[in-house]
Amino acid sequence: MKRHLISAADLSREEAVLVLDTAAELAGVSARPIRKLPTLRGRTVVNLFYEDSTRTRTSFEAAAKRLSADVINFSARGSSVAKGESLKDTALTLEAMGADAIVVRHGASGAPHRLAGWVTGSVINAGDGTHEHPTQALLDAFTIRQRLGSPDHGASGRRGAGLDGVRATIVGDVLHSRVARSGVLLLSTLGADVTLVAPPTLIPFGVGGWPCKISYDLDAELPKSDVVMMLRVQQERMTAAYFPTVREYRRRYGLDAGRMSLLPDHAIVMHPGPMNRGVEIAAEVADSPRSTIVEQVSNGVIVRMAVLYLMLGGVEGNS
Ligand code: NCD
Repeated sequence: MKRHLISAADLSREEAVLVLDTAAELAGVSARPIRKLPTLRGRTVVNLFYEDSTRTRTSFEAAAKRLSADVINFSARGSSVAKGESLKDTALTLEAMGADAIVVRHGASGAPHRLAGWVTGSVINAGDGTHEHPTQALLDAFTIRQRLGSPDHGASGRRGAGLDGVRATIVGDVLHSRVARSGVLLLSTLGADVTLVAPPTLIPFGVGGWPCKISYDLDAELPKSDVVMMLRVQQERMTAAYFPTVREYRRRYGLDAGRMSLLPDHAIVMHPGPMNRGVEIAAEVADSPRSTIVEQVSNGVIVRMAVLYLMLGGVEGNS
């Protein structure tokens, strides 16, 4: 593995499969009564979060602790960031305390990349603005491989397998979604066919260069999907009116039980959370047996353990 994980594009197919296989090994540890490995004893992982997070922060913390690393949680609120300290000075302070890895979430796209230029430890991007969220893409890929793990459904759950031939449809607020961008890059690296579905106003410029197809018609795509990933409508990042009303959005792009019935029987429904129930996803869909939303959270811990293990555990070839 490379020293930093900033973009899903940093991972070759072999590296991505290695993360998934390592996570599958580590899943055994999470099932034991004592869920701890001594692998990262004496190492320090800093969680540097400038944006709110429930799942990602706690999941990185649990992952680092299960590998016996020391964890420092730093949130911008209540720190000297509130006094105007810069990202660089904050990072150098944390590094002076011996951080081997900095897990960073920041509202500005590109912040983890800058950080990687200032510190000697590893930087792991836990979400930067509307840019990328590579560990979310890894946990989504892991969940897909696990759920669709029989040859009739395209993917093979076997170790070493990618997602060849899996048809993944990512739906909704693509414009503001770092989950979508990292998902497109990683799933296509692993061999999946990815289609983005959104209103034209929520498709980013430059999407023509992404390794995926674009559609504006959800009903036409659902029968051809093995995976449908619903994205949160990110009101907090919206500076203009991107669709007429929530009701209209839901009517065209929301997933309710009626629409879900258009999916093939084996297909799964994903959402990275937090959900707007009743907007992009109906409660009966989120709570249905097809939904992987809770599994995505538990898989998040083992996939992040795998990432920390491979980046910090002294695996040969680290550069
Ligand atoms: C996502 C995020 O923060 O990018 N959440 C997550 O990490 N599980 C998606 C979102 O905020 O909608």
